[in-house]
Amino acid sequence: MDAREPTRPDDLPATPFHVAIIMDGNGRWAKERGQIRTIGHKAGVDALKRTITAAVDLGVTHMTVFAFSTENWRRPEAEVSDLMGLLRAFIKADLARLRREGVCVRIIGQEDGLPRDIVGMVADAHEQTKHNSRFFLQVALNYGAQADIVEAARRLAQSARDGAITPESITADIFANSLSTHGLPPLDLLIRTSGEHRLSNFLLWEAAYAEFVFQDILWPDYGHDALKQALDIFARRNRRFGAVDPGHAAQPA
Ligand code: IPE
Ligand code: IPE
Ligand code: MG
Repeated sequence: MDAREPTRPDDLPATPFHVAIIMDGNGRWAKERGQIRTIGHKAGVDALKRTITAAVDLGVTHMTVFAFSTENWRRPEAEVSDLMGLLRAFIKADLARLRREGVCVRIIGQEDGLPRDIVGMVADAHEQTKHNSRFFLQVALNYGAQADIVEAARRLAQSARDGAITPESITADIFANSLSTHGLPPLDLLIRTSGEHRLSNFLLWEAAYAEFVFQDILWPDYGHDALKQALDIFARRNRRFGAVDPGHAAQPA
């Protein structure tokens, strides 16, 4: 799933708004109900569908969601297999609707280790939706940020060895363009549900100036209201990007 072909839609609103979500808490949601973890993951897929609709309604233009990490292979085989099954079902049942609704879907992450049919399905999902520009949905599947950064470094090192670039010419922009997330606007807001306060190897480079919002809600309960609440918290934040607050800039020392 080499995502390095140009995929950036041209006619998005002038101010892109990029939100990433670590969709966490499916297992605990199921446990609270005396159910097996897979039931939580199933409810998690419904939450994702609700959240995509809510994001479009609330003016988000780009959304990156963490669906499966490179570390999630450590889970019991049956759970991993159920997660892959849910992904298959999601693509089969929802791709046509997403395409009709103007959603461009891109899946990032390592192909290695994924079932062959899923590799084909995710490539097809992108192919079928790549001309859409109303909303950009990036799904991180078998994704780990450190591996993505290492892969980018390898690509650039290879280019330098081939004489195509010089080491000195590598800038932060060029590096960012070598990551699987290339072409997306900077990440504005990173949300994690379920009360955990960590990145778990998600978007380490991209989150450089993102605002973080941690919500206690378990992912299967997520939807319009919870997303609205996160966006409201974001709206009250003062992003300085290393500069001083404009309100204080002119004051004498
Ligand atoms: C997130 O929910 C879904 C995936 C990681 C695939 P979890 O399965 O991590 O749920 P908890 O954290 O055990 O509650
Ligand atoms: C992160 O959640 C990965 C996804 C949401 C897909 P985890 O539940 O796997 O993260 P840890 O293990 O609590 O750090
Ligand atoms: Mg978890």
